[in-house]
Amino acid sequence: MRSVVLFGALSALLALPDALAVKSQDFKTCSQSGFCRRGRALAARAQEAQSSWNSPYSVDPSSILILPEDSTVKAVVKSSLYPEIKFGLELRIHDDGVVRVLLDEVDGLRKRYDEAASWALVSEPKLSKGIRWAAGKKELRAVFGEKNDIEVAVNYDPFRVRLRRGGEDQIVLNGRGLLHMEHFRSQTLKETTEEVVSEENAEGQEVLQIENVRAWFEGDSEDAYWEEKFSSWTDSKPKGPESLSLDITFPNHGTVYGIPQHATNLSLPSTTGESPSYTDPFRLYNADVFEYIASSPMSLYGSIPVMHAHSAETTVGLFNAIGSETWIDIAYPTKRSTHTHWISESGIMDVFLLPGPTPEDVFAQYARLTGTTALPAHWSLGYHQCRWNYVSSDDVRTVQKRFDEEDMPVDVFWLDIEYAQDHKYFIWDHKTFPDPVEMTNEVAAAGRKMVVIVDPHLKRTSDYPVYQEASDLDILVKPKSGEGEYEGWCWTGSSSWIDHFNPASWDWWISKFKTTKIDTGFSWIESTEDIHIWNDMNEPSIFNGPEITMPKDSIHYGGWEHRDVHNINGMLFHNNTAQAVRVRSDISKRPFVLTRSFYAGSQRVGAMWTGDNLGTWDHMAVGIKMVLANGIAGMAFAGSDVGGFFGNPEPEMLVRWYQVGIFSPFFRAHAHIDTKRREPFLLDEPYKSIIRDILRLRYSMLPIWYTAFKENSVTGMPIVRPHYVMFPQDTAGFDIDDQFFVGSSGILVKPVTEKGKNEATIYLPEDQVYYDYFTQYAYRGSIKGKYVIVAAELHQVPVFIRGGSILPTRERPRRSSPLMRLDPFTIRVALSKAGTARGELYLDDGVTYLHQQGELVWREFVAEQPQKKITRISSRDLAAQNPGKAVDGVALTTYDPKNAFAKEIEEVRVEKIVILGLVWKPSSVKVEGGAELKWEFVPGVAAIDTKEGTASVLIIKDPKVLITSDWAIVVS
Ligand code: NOJ
Repeated sequence: MRSVVLFGALSALLALPDALAVKSQDFKTCSQSGFCRRGRALAARAQEAQSSWNSPYSVDPSSILILPEDSTVKAVVKSSLYPEIKFGLELRIHDDGVVRVLLDEVDGLRKRYDEAASWALVSEPKLSKGIRWAAGKKELRAVFGEKNDIEVAVNYDPFRVRLRRGGEDQIVLNGRGLLHMEHFRSQTLKETTEEVVSEENAEGQEVLQIENVRAWFEGDSEDAYWEEKFSSWTDSKPKGPESLSLDITFPNHGTVYGIPQHATNLSLPSTTGESPSYTDPFRLYNADVFEYIASSPMSLYGSIPVMHAHSAETTVGLFNAIGSETWIDIAYPTKRSTHTHWISESGIMDVFLLPGPTPEDVFAQYARLTGTTALPAHWSLGYHQCRWNYVSSDDVRTVQKRFDEEDMPVDVFWLDIEYAQDHKYFIWDHKTFPDPVEMTNEVAAAGRKMVVIVDPHLKRTSDYPVYQEASDLDILVKPKSGEGEYEGWCWTGSSSWIDHFNPASWDWWISKFKTTKIDTGFSWIESTEDIHIWNDMNEPSIFNGPEITMPKDSIHYGGWEHRDVHNINGMLFHNNTAQAVRVRSDISKRPFVLTRSFYAGSQRVGAMWTGDNLGTWDHMAVGIKMVLANGIAGMAFAGSDVGGFFGNPEPEMLVRWYQVGIFSPFFRAHAHIDTKRREPFLLDEPYKSIIRDILRLRYSMLPIWYTAFKENSVTGMPIVRPHYVMFPQDTAGFDIDDQFFVGSSGILVKPVTEKGKNEATIYLPEDQVYYDYFTQYAYRGSIKGKYVIVAAELHQVPVFIRGGSILPTRERPRRSSPLMRLDPFTIRVALSKAGTARGELYLDDGVTYLHQQGELVWREFVAEQPQKKITRISSRDLAAQNPGKAVDGVALTTYDPKNAFAKEIEEVRVEKIVILGLVWKPSSVKVEGGAELKWEFVPGVAAIDTKEGTASVLIIKDPKVLITSDWAIVVS
């Protein structure tokens, strides 16, 4: 089922009041964008020509240069349309089998933007040594891979690149002949595209005709080559046409995922071909789309040009490192194949082919390129309370007090733009926030933090030191003339934007966040280390700009136009802010900086959220899909505004939204300035108590979340995982995006996102037992997959534990997560059909970078049956076994189990072990080699049974074992 619920989305939209609907006229469709129009028209001509269509691009075999040392090959590519233009092709094979394909115009009139990858990549990838390219008569080939079963072949004429595994095509570039790199040309010297041809007319007379010989490929008109109008704006396009069209085909993969951010299904709906789900291509052009639609290929705030193509046999990936506006058409010509067509406005072709063959491999390959989510501050996984706006310091104090009075855990209070005098970020409005440092200290006294917004637009007034300094340093984005400062309109009125591409801005921006006085100008002395940052509006959002953003002909550092770097822009602001927060103190601490705009690589910097969603059920549901899609493209620390940004959700909706929120990596409630207050303590019963329990559930599971973040930080595996990632061969799960797993923990969740529901249908993908997290009811899946119906009254969120998992939780309610630091653990053992289970727990101080020096605890719990009628649960040190995998990017060579952090928590004990699904009532439960323990057994269904029903539960009370030490408990 790949079709989208278009009707549902549309009808929901129609039901909204006028004020709550996207102003689609503010944003271009493909037909309003010159280069997209050209790209689609090219595809249409190819479609019409069918088999007579041939790509004009070919490799010049005489130019091939093989660099055997580096598994690299270079060659010249030419287009028969413009024989005088040369393109440089380069293919590099990385040491993990990733193939990078680069194509750029050589000695052109201008230079194409070629730095997108350098912003995205962690470092220059290591090339494989010793893979030999062989140049044959028709193609260039290299064979590699552990089993020597991967092959990359470059066909000369037409130019085409194929990645094959086991003889089967995985990814094909230019297989449909849609490659077109528009070369630079000069507007005055119109190139001769005309040729005189003679034809016979009806009377048999010879007539001379003028024919555009390139029209078959390029079309007959110079469509929007040198200028483009949209609404009241004119894009001056001084460089002329420079778009890049590229078809990428997956001949043996019938499902594609990724290319966030779009409000749509995880398994991407079609945009062309027969009865497409959408009529416009998916667009990647970071934009502040106010009141966006819950089902649409329209652009949103961030862009990651990463795609997975999946089949039951293999998964492959693709990273198209381009920073300019890009449109992507998707068609499924057959059930087992996918056509994609990428149309970008500018930039070189720089495509990374990720050979897989499993989703896990693709995540690892992409993580090696662009990095993983930096392990976040532990507190940032707690609950964040935001609204636009908490209006004064006293307001913040009252909100904090109310949370405490109602015993509701919360870690962070947020301040939106109204804290800042005239929206001059950093500058407190002292009328309402007379004592920001004292206020923050009071929040911090309960172990909590504040997050305060700092937007990228600077109010253009000389009494705002941040603007004045930036202006004096000449580090602001320039208008199209390349002189002076670009001026646009945002919350601040007349504003300018720092050009974060300019290296001169970096240290300066970092210095603004110092909490002490500096010699060189303004620093934020009215702040403390307990204040972290929210970067909003960084697409950038510009109220009076074309499509609410910066004109494409504005000029950045190095003379690049904004058009070249638009999608990367927001990431640099985010990155520089995070660096600033990290280094503002003497001992660097993990920064928390939330961003709205993002690009490939943003995951290294911090969290994102899905922007201004609506308080509708559709938006609640699509938020889950969007968070899953972000995880596919590496941006795993993600969440949506709980409650919906716009609107006043009724209590039922709010409760359901909190149930979604606690299962999002980033969990924040937020609301528009015009909405009614809706902090959870304001609700009537039973809603208030239900939300209290929901919040507590999130807090009890923080060890599971933190462990999932640690795994993601090392492997790139998403924090919330869709079915195809967990069960790549189960075709029935390919389109499932309303239920998901949390890390490798074995937790399966299906939040309810529909009104008035009291049950939910869950898909169990395997022949395994799944236990209801709350009732311990044991459900049985099936080898072919099975749907089960479970109760889902308002207070119930369907959560299951996959048989074979061990979950560490902390069940004592606290006001904030730092207060749980020394709390004991509960270990839940959910036995599998085979009577076994395993799980992990990762801990460190959650604040500093001392984990990179080995100050951490990483444990493995195992349940096994060494003999009949004996179950042994043990805990062992994983860090000592795998020091190289304990910390992202750090090869600990040894690990000391008695490190300073482990010592700090050495008295933390396991207060309870719960075992689900034992067959018999035990006769004895002992610590191995020790005394009998206190336990209680409630008989029920055993894991190894085939029956469904409430599972047997063994509760071992105070087993007298510590979380940091090795132990074993024998149940016999
Ligand atoms: C737009 C953001 O998306 C929203 O979350 C925020 O509240 C407003 N800007 C005001 O800062």
